[in-house]
Amino acid sequence: MNAVIRGVVKSAIIRHGWQVIGIEDGFDGLLELNRCRPLTLESVRGILPRGGTILGTTNRGNPLFYHLIREGKTVDYSDRVLENFRTLGLDALVAVGGEGSLKIALELSKRGVPVVGVPKTIDNDLLGTDFTFGYNTALETATDALDKLHTTAESHHRVMILEVMGRYAGWIALESGIAGGADVILIPEIPFDIQRVCAAIRQRSERGSRFSIIVAAEGAYPAGGSRVVAHEADERHAIERLGGIGQYVAKQFEGCLDMDVRVTVLGHLQRGGSPTTFDRALGSRFGTKAVAMVAAGEFGRMACLRGRTIGTIPIEEATRDLNLVDPDGEIARTAEDLGIMLGR
Ligand code: F6P
Repeated sequence: MNAVIRGVVKSAIIRHGWQVIGIEDGFDGLLELNRCRPLTLESVRGILPRGGTILGTTNRGNPLFYHLIREGKTVDYSDRVLENFRTLGLDALVAVGGEGSLKIALELSKRGVPVVGVPKTIDNDLLGTDFTFGYNTALETATDALDKLHTTAESHHRVMILEVMGRYAGWIALESGIAGGADVILIPEIPFDIQRVCAAIRQRSERGSRFSIIVAAEGAYPAGGSRVVAHEADERHAIERLGGIGQYVAKQFEGCLDMDVRVTVLGHLQRGGSPTTFDRALGSRFGTKAVAMVAAGEFGRMACLRGRTIGTIPIEEATRDLNLVDPDGEIARTAEDLGIMLGR
């Protein structure tokens, strides 16, 4: 995120001589007038290798359905956002976020806020862009974890399950699993058959590989079953929080597998740390593109990466659906060609 902020600030100031105001904590920061600050070349110095965001963020704040905890009701604050936007003297809003945040941005754009979007999520589940920034860094962390898990798996002859994030998309699991030499990868796009998974691990064992590495996407679920939810959606959390598939799979192995099984939940380690070179470059390119879009009056659109080129697409198109793994596509096929079991 910091690479994007830096890209916006540097190109707005260096190329256009504009003033940049940073809004704190996502859309929540637009509900008040004192939650923003000028961003100068000085304020973005040294932030490129830092994970997170110097502005703070939230994945809960939605001004269109704002939950007033004490009153126990939900209100639409879009008028207040519009009013504050004008009072602050802003000419454009660069909204950096995943599907949920960009849907809010789209709504605000329909209500008169000149918005440009930048695709940010480790899940890589936005349509219209080959990659969202953050994904590559998460992938790197997951692959590194798999490399490390191999040590114990091999030495102790165990089944090691790594649960990774990705929400309803299996990108992190699939690509880290391929890169990290997993034996089984379970993704939401391919509901799995636990008996077949068990049989695959037993066969490996019979062939002399006395350990197995399984990557389970948090959104993966058994055929005919449902996702493992850690926290249901409620008025404060617009969407359910997933988690627990690793333990679920381990439990299913009892009775069908005579091997030690251990589960590692990678969790928020995937969302932190210094961004990879790829993400720093991509974030910088998205940030400068956002400024170019503002200069060209290309509002209601999102910066995107297609092949090696940065372009733009309507936010509406990018958020129409989720970008999911094609179960019969090239990457899934690659995994199976490598002998990786995808749970089917
Ligand atoms: O959308 C990004 C993501 O990291 C998902 O992969 C994960 O399911 C979720 O956010 C976790 O959200 P929280 O930080 O609120 O637990």
